[in-house]
Amino acid sequence: MTQDELKTLVGRAALKYVVPGEIVGVGTGSTVNKFIEALATMKDQVPGAVSSSVASTERLQAIGVRVFDLNEVGELAVYIDGADEIDGRGHMVKGGGAALTREKIVAAQSRRFICIADDSKRVEVLGRFPIPVEVIPMATQRLVRQFALQGGTATVRLKDGQPLVTDNGQHILDVTGLQVREPLAFETQVSQWPGVVTVGVFAHQKAAVCLLATPGGVQTIAY
Ligand code: A5P
Repeated sequence: MTQDELKTLVGRAALKYVVPGEIVGVGTGSTVNKFIEALATMKDQVPGAVSSSVASTERLQAIGVRVFDLNEVGELAVYIDGADEIDGRGHMVKGGGAALTREKIVAAQSRRFICIADDSKRVEVLGRFPIPVEVIPMATQRLVRQFALQGGTATVRLKDGQPLVTDNGQHILDVTGLQVREPLAFETQVSQWPGVVTVGVFAHQKAAVCLLATPGGVQTIAY
């Protein structure tokens, strides 16, 4: 099975976590795009969605799902999103699609985070994938130095030769060379550095369930 087929499989499997009658939280990325495609089949059963990015909002609206502002809604029953990495405890690295800040906000307002991923995303220790960090541009170089003190190498993510600008008007650092053995402590620490908007380690907002697509089918892992 190709990776694309695995993503389709797990995107469809996530439908059973959508609660009829309840607004659903929707993440961002190629796996979530498969979930959005599948959601078209039950769009009449939900009042709408809260989206974590402009890209997902456009896709949801294109299939006729109403998109609510997070400020208009209360706690969401579920938030469904992908990950760049997930460890054995449900901690994740996210932000490969640069949507980490809104993803963390929507996840924080949701009772359960349902992670949808293919088995290439499973890791023992977070940090194989570069860790995305959304930063205020004026703090970029001091944060690069701060990550260097931790043994990491931070580089500014580019798009068309210029720093990528997020949906929130900020920049992204991608940090390599770190092994995150204590995700909760790491997230807490880095989140406090001035100039950091959001660190792409999701330990406080970890997954409650991971639907992991493997060639043998979808595994359900509860944490
Ligand atoms: C978006 O910013 C990310 O957090 C995505 O959830 C993550 O990068 C997974 O994306 P894919 O499903 O495209 O691998």
